[in-house]
Amino acid sequence: PHLPLAVAFGRPLFWAAERASTNATALDWAAKGLPHGAVVTAAVQTGGKGRRERSWVSPQGGMWFSVLIRQPCALNQAPDLTLLASLAVRRALAEIGVPADIKWPNDILVAGKKVCGILAQMRADGEWVDHAVIGIGINANFPEERLPADIRHRATTIFSACGFAIERPRVLATILTELDKLYRLLASGEGFASVRGEWLAHCETMGRSVEVAVGNEIVRGTAIDVDDQGSLLVKLAHGDVRRLHSGEVLFSES
Ligand code: BTN
Repeated sequence: PHLPLAVAFGRPLFWAAERASTNATALDWAAKGLPHGAVVTAAVQTGGKGRRERSWVSPQGGMWFSVLIRQPCALNQAPDLTLLASLAVRRALAEIGVPADIKWPNDILVAGKKVCGILAQMRADGEWVDHAVIGIGINANFPEERLPADIRHRATTIFSACGFAIERPRVLATILTELDKLYRLLASGEGFASVRGEWLAHCETMGRSVEVAVGNEIVRGTAIDVDDQGSLLVKLAHGDVRRLHSGEVLFSES
């Protein structure tokens, strides 16, 4: 795709008809000097990776890409990267008329079902992240029947939910522009706090009863807030509030 010159992210951009996983390629190439902002994409992934060691089905018609962040940051800033990436995706989809919500920490939902997941993988040395790969997978222009049957109750595609195909190069360009802007905020020390209001305004998780998997533990309660660090605040049945830095919402009910 032809990207506007002002976009720092996406230069260079490596496209291929097929890769095992764009995250795996980006991590591999990072070790060989791939520059900050480079994007690795593929029309099809044969070994796409999801969070929690799951596989990510990645057929033709989707958007499968990874962005390399190669500016050292503190390990505790790393979760901000994925929170900001979900905001960039939400903004890009909203711009083309796809109403998307964020499910904490970084899934994107359309009509209540997941259409996009984000997987950040990083190389850290002690408390410092040397580089991070942000992998973004969007179920864009294919029917949801191509997703595994066992996830179709909670996952869909933009094509199935909205009834139209999206212009992928344009959406990619917008995501990269927005990610670039948001990343600069992070680099300038502003962090997640400066966009927390926007993030909360589009977060579907707030106010719901949730079950959150944190490692092997399940935390049950009501999601009441996201703090300046992006942690989810869950009010437990007996009134205490747990602050979850990471995890996955398995279930939510309004
Ligand atoms: C999730 O489990 O929600 C995260 C899914 C992340 C999928 C994307 S597709 C591009 C990149 N390459 C991968 O192998 N995974 C990520």
